[in-house]
Amino acid sequence: MAYLALYRAWRPQRFEEIVGQEKAVKSLKNAIKENRLSHAYLFAGPRGTGKTSIAKIIAKAVNCENPQDGEPCNACSSCIDINNGNFMDVVEIDAASNRGIDEIRDLREKVRILPAQGKRKVYIIDEVHMLTTEAFNALLKTLEEPPDYVMFILATTESHKIPATIKSRCQIYQFRRLTTDEIVERLRKVAESDNIEFEEEALLIIARRANGGMRDALSVMDQINAYKDGRVTKSDVLDVLGIVDDLFLINLMESVINRDTAAVVKMISTALNEGKEAQQLAREMVFYLRDLLIYQGLGEKADFYVIDRENMHFLDKQKARANQAFLLKSLRIMINTMEKLRFSEGGKFLLEMSFLEMIEIISEMENATSASQKVEVKPQPAVKEVKKVNKGTRDNSEEKVLWQKILAGVKEKKIPTHALLSQGKLIGIKDDVIYIGFKKGYKFHKERMEEKGNREILEEVLEKIFGKPLEIQFIFIDDEQYNDIMVKKAIEYFGEDIVQIKD
Ligand SMILES: Nc1ncnc2c1ncn2[C@@H]1O[C@H](COP(=O)(O)OP(=O)(O)OP(=O)(O)O)[C@@H](O)[C@H]1O
Ligand SMILES: [Mg+2]
Ligand SMILES: [Zn+2]
Repeated sequence: MAYLALYRAWRPQRFEEIVGQEKAVKSLKNAIKENRLSHAYLFAGPRGTGKTSIAKIIAKAVNCENPQDGEPCNACSSCIDINNGNFMDVVEIDAASNRGIDEIRDLREKVRILPAQGKRKVYIIDEVHMLTTEAFNALLKTLEEPPDYVMFILATTESHKIPATIKSRCQIYQFRRLTTDEIVERLRKVAESDNIEFEEEALLIIARRANGGMRDALSVMDQINAYKDGRVTKSDVLDVLGIVDDLFLINLMESVINRDTAAVVKMISTALNEGKEAQQLAREMVFYLRDLLIYQGLGEKADFYVIDRENMHFLDKQKARANQAFLLKSLRIMINTMEKLRFSEGGKFLLEMSFLEMIEIISEMENATSASQKVEVKPQPAVKEVKKVNKGTRDNSEEKVLWQKILAGVKEKKIPTHALLSQGKLIGIKDDVIYIGFKKGYKFHKERMEEKGNREILEEVLEKIFGKPLEIQFIFIDDEQYNDIMVKKAIEYFGEDIVQIKD
């Protein structure tokens, strides 16, 4: 026997088998029982939530020889023929592939012919939003005065694209996404009846990933069955979906918050080396950030995409340290990266840059907070000394403005490059050489800035600002007492006229 995909094998045959969509199920079933169905319905809602399934159940119920309580019997010749697609009076049109007016004209003519086999002619038009304007107009004429024995069931995932004139002639049912629990329950049933053992956690991940669509969930189950005999574990599902464990994401975020650049870079490498896709990883991070944000707002009531409830407690610390502004910014960065990665190959670099940018943002935010707190508590004793060092040399505000200008120019060209460069400091410019310093801990940033792509971006910006090309020197400056050492180093480099900005 040919293999039948699970989602087909498990197409609900009766209203009773439909998961969710209570409102549609209840009122349609009653309308069938009381013989007061409308001539036209519009089923609107996300993919794989039961629109076509319910349309077929209606088509069977109105033509069934032995309907029971509004349900089709699925045993009479009409039901069987409809199930097999051999029933002349039930016509399925896929508007996505038949956009033309000809099909609808044809339909207009055939509508006039009495049912050949059954009691009612049922036209199911899937993806109806794909019809052309002319086709819609032709359809409208038919909807205006349909013969008694004709019924239209239109289905769409994009109801906003349906003309109001069409909508106003239909009874509309809005289908909803199925909940994770509803999907898990159905998957469990399928697994049991097919004698495949699934870890509960594995089912949960499939259901969460399906984003409310039952068809996608069943398709994933199919893929897993094809590759695995015996008990299916959480990690099998992660492999098939090409996604990472939620604990991995939790750790990754932990490293970002701890500003541990090295750990972040290493974790990304590990995941990619294990065969995960950069885009998928960005996507997972988007889900994760979303979960964390929701958790901040709703606490235990949050409904998670990627986080396992068991691991929820790991989020508490992150919830406290990562404020909402940071999470929202990070979310924007990751969504952006995810989009970009759709069109580019090896996305490792982009991915790293996005995480580094997140680190930069949280560093800035935390520094700003701690600085303002310190100022409030007691004036910094070091301030005087620093001034003394600067005194006699020069006021460095001009240099700061210049550095901001350079950073802004780079940011305009490429945000990841800006994320790298902003960890450095302008030390000075002499003889057409610009010296930019990095603290020891920012070796990664320095090395990436030295790479061709990033260096060229900086070169372009510098040439625009100075009106001539500058040579770039990236140097290390010591870690402790960043500012003072920076000045000392600069003196070594530049002698007395420290960081003198020519031009
Ligand atoms: N509400 C549901 N209850 C049970 N199974 C469902 C439900 N919705 C979808 N399924 C499963 O998914 C498969 C596809 O569903 P269906 O064709 O009804 O979705 P649809 O809403 O028409 O989607 P699309 O918009 O992509 O056409 C079904 O064969 C069934 O296995
Ligand atoms: Mg459909
Ligand atoms: Zn029947």
